[in-house]
Amino acid sequence: MTTSTNPGFVTNLLQLPRNAWRSLFRNPLPSSDLGRSQTSFSNFFLHIHPVKTHVNTLRPTYTLGLGMAALSLFVVLVITGMLLMFYYVPSVEQAHNRMLDLRGTVAFGSLLRNMHRWSAHGMVAVVFLHLCRVFFTGSYKAPREFNWVLGVVLLLLTFFLSFTGYLLPWDQLAYWAITVGTAIAGYAPFVGEQMRFVLLGDRIVGQEALIRFYVLHVAVLPAVLTTLIAVHFWRIRKDGGLSRPEDSNFPESQPAYPQAIAAKLEGLAPLAKTQKTKTFGVLGMVRGPFSKIGNTPDNTVYSWPNLFLGELFCFAVTVLGVLVVSLLFAAPLEAPADPTHPPNPSKAPWYFLGLQEMVSYSAFWGGIGIPTLMVLGLILLPYLDRSPKGVGVWFSRERLLAVTLFILFVLTNLVLIIIGTFFRGPNWSLVLPW
Ligand code: HEM
Repeated sequence: MTTSTNPGFVTNLLQLPRNAWRSLFRNPLPSSDLGRSQTSFSNFFLHIHPVKTHVNTLRPTYTLGLGMAALSLFVVLVITGMLLMFYYVPSVEQAHNRMLDLRGTVAFGSLLRNMHRWSAHGMVAVVFLHLCRVFFTGSYKAPREFNWVLGVVLLLLTFFLSFTGYLLPWDQLAYWAITVGTAIAGYAPFVGEQMRFVLLGDRIVGQEALIRFYVLHVAVLPAVLTTLIAVHFWRIRKDGGLSRPEDSNFPESQPAYPQAIAAKLEGLAPLAKTQKTKTFGVLGMVRGPFSKIGNTPDNTVYSWPNLFLGELFCFAVTVLGVLVVSLLFAAPLEAPADPTHPPNPSKAPWYFLGLQEMVSYSAFWGGIGIPTLMVLGLILLPYLDRSPKGVGVWFSRERLLAVTLFILFVLTNLVLIIIGTFFRGPNWSLVLPW
């Protein structure tokens, strides 16, 4: 006689939620170290993290959560951007009307547009602040040179992503900002005009430019950014996790070994003396001796839940911030683009207003010469500054000159942007904002 193992339809129905949940999350929340490790490497979304994370990485005052905030804003942009694509049409006849529809007739349309707009501005600012944090903690130094260079490319791509989106509402603000912005690109010697033509597909900003900016904005740049962000994270792992102060592996407050082991070690040669010199063979796994003690990062905790909760918190705060700003402030939408009526003054997007301000003094140096030198300087920085001093410490005294020069660089950019935004009126004359 065979007994049926199927408990019956009604029981199955009642147990459906529990069984569905279990088919997705096979193990309960981990309570052992093994469980915590398995949670990290058996989950698709978590396995990019190490199983253990250095405690310095978890200090909110070290990273300020800026890298994670940048990623969170990018995620918000992708999600809201995809929803906006259901309504938007990249045509000079329809684009502006579609924006009005979003505002007037689509449920949550305004909120969606506001969130997309403010996240885009936010991402430009946050990525730049993240660059500043990496600089001020000396985290661009070896072995992280390449990740810094990748970061500079990410910054440029972020600018470009935001810039291409600026045109899409096809209002006066968008039209003239892009006209000014692309005119700056045209100042490049020899290839400037051709570059501008390739970008616009025409001599003026029109339908060809709109479709090019649209394709770049919704497909090309997000795909390139997603790929490079993944490489950026992979490099963090390969570079041994985030930078940290040299002496942070065995802090006095937290012994390197549990007391029981430390007690057993007592009587052997003093550990401190052997730390730097002793090597161990990891049989059958790697060739040659392996200098475990004193060389590999210790003072770590399990990434689950420590790191993941920190990241979740950062994501939640960023999304909440965007939501609050989007509920309070509407994204601007001016009259439809009119190529015959330029506003006076026509201004580029705020993050290019420093450039526009410099262009008002010298078209070539302001638009091309100085920006190229700035980007080259940033890219070459880790190869020119080879001193290993001051890594992992904010504003280290050992890097006084570098820190001072960088503060001057940031302040100069900031002052130029403030002048361009608030103190420039008709014909780019100086005005008072109040
Ligand atoms: C789309 C833009 C970017 C995203 C999403 C991103 C994301 C991240 C994240 C999540 C981290 C680890 C946590 C943290 O440091 O806050 C990180 C670290 C790092 N980022 Fe970025 N980043 C971006 C742009 C940049 C830029 C512009 C630079 C510099 C030019 C840069 C250079 C670095 C370096 C060198 C590290 C390792 C820092 C260390 O070891 O302390 N990143 N990034």
